[in-house]
Amino acid sequence: MKSLLQTLNGKIISPPPVWLMRQAGRHLPEYLNLRSQTDSFLDFCYSPDMAVEATLQPILRYGMDAAILFSDILVIPDALGQRVSFIPGHGPRLEPLDGRADINRLDPSNLHAHLAPVYAAIRRIRTRLPKTTTLIGFAGAPWTVATYMIEGGGSRDCQKTRTYAYETKDDFQALIDLLVDTTSSYLIRQADEGAEVVQIFDSWAGVLPPMQFDDWVIKPFQKIVAAVKTVHPNLPIIGFPKGAGLGYATFATQTGVDAVSLDSMVPLVWAAENVQPHTVIQGNLDNLVLRSGGQLLEAAVQEILTVFSARPFIFNLGHGILPETPVSHVEQLLDIIRRN
Ligand code: CP3
Repeated sequence: MKSLLQTLNGKIISPPPVWLMRQAGRHLPEYLNLRSQTDSFLDFCYSPDMAVEATLQPILRYGMDAAILFSDILVIPDALGQRVSFIPGHGPRLEPLDGRADINRLDPSNLHAHLAPVYAAIRRIRTRLPKTTTLIGFAGAPWTVATYMIEGGGSRDCQKTRTYAYETKDDFQALIDLLVDTTSSYLIRQADEGAEVVQIFDSWAGVLPPMQFDDWVIKPFQKIVAAVKTVHPNLPIIGFPKGAGLGYATFATQTGVDAVSLDSMVPLVWAAENVQPHTVIQGNLDNLVLRSGGQLLEAAVQEILTVFSARPFIFNLGHGILPETPVSHVEQLLDIIRRN
């Protein structure tokens, strides 16, 4: 039986299931080797052969309890017709949306045709995964995807997007509504094709004050969860409102997600008392502690295991694994968790 699915169904498992955000990627020499075969990161994502191999790499090397589909959250703007490219060393670049006319030009009619290679990858991954490994599909949350679409890439605190949402709320709402619909439809298709769990990444949730957190994080999540559950009532959904702080408690009780992924800033005992009673939790080792390894890693992992072990819990990082992380530190992490 798959330990991640058991946990998401409310069972306490010891040792807990473990996987790592960005487990497929640049910390793995075999990924760098595969990645060197093509220049364009999006071409890599849209090649089922490469996406399948990259997804399986951390499973073959480490025996993680879950595989996460190899793709990116920015395939959605790309599929809507907003060109996306990835500049080595600089991250994603998009032609920024500038006003309502640009939003109105976004076109969802080609969504599933554009994303067909992702669906093909999911079907093939399912045939090749070990019986105990769960396949996680994913998408970006509307707020986070909108920040990339409006800023034209990553930004420190999403000032342009926040200003746009304050000053032209109706236009911003139109963009969020479009992303709610396309993201719901995308996740439903991933589950149709074989994703057994989905995670929704809201990496920039932490820049919003409470009222806007409600408008742009809570409400869009509620709509997506309701839409996906109408078609797939038993599909577990993990939400990751990174940086939500006290908002994590609201998020856990109001969105309808089955599990909440915690970032590393969240105090463990607070989360055990205020989030874990309401939902399964996932997290939340500091990715820099994993990169450093040693005694510090041992102590941090033990503490997380101790505080979270009384209720259903999935071990993960508080954010994606860093490219400089030694493979031996991931092995050390798994040794600590699995000898418990
Ligand atoms: O292993 C996995 O987790 C699956 C694949 C995955 C990627 N991106 C691959 C990737 C997942 C789940 C994502 C999610 C994603 N993408 C998020 C949300 C999670 C988070 O980290 O906050 C965001 C914000 C993005 C957007 C994105 N993609 C950025 C900002 C960057 C550049 C920064 C960086 O790490 O290089 C990417 C590129 C990207 N996505 C890479 C990988 C492996 C590196 C590109 C490469 O290998 O050339």
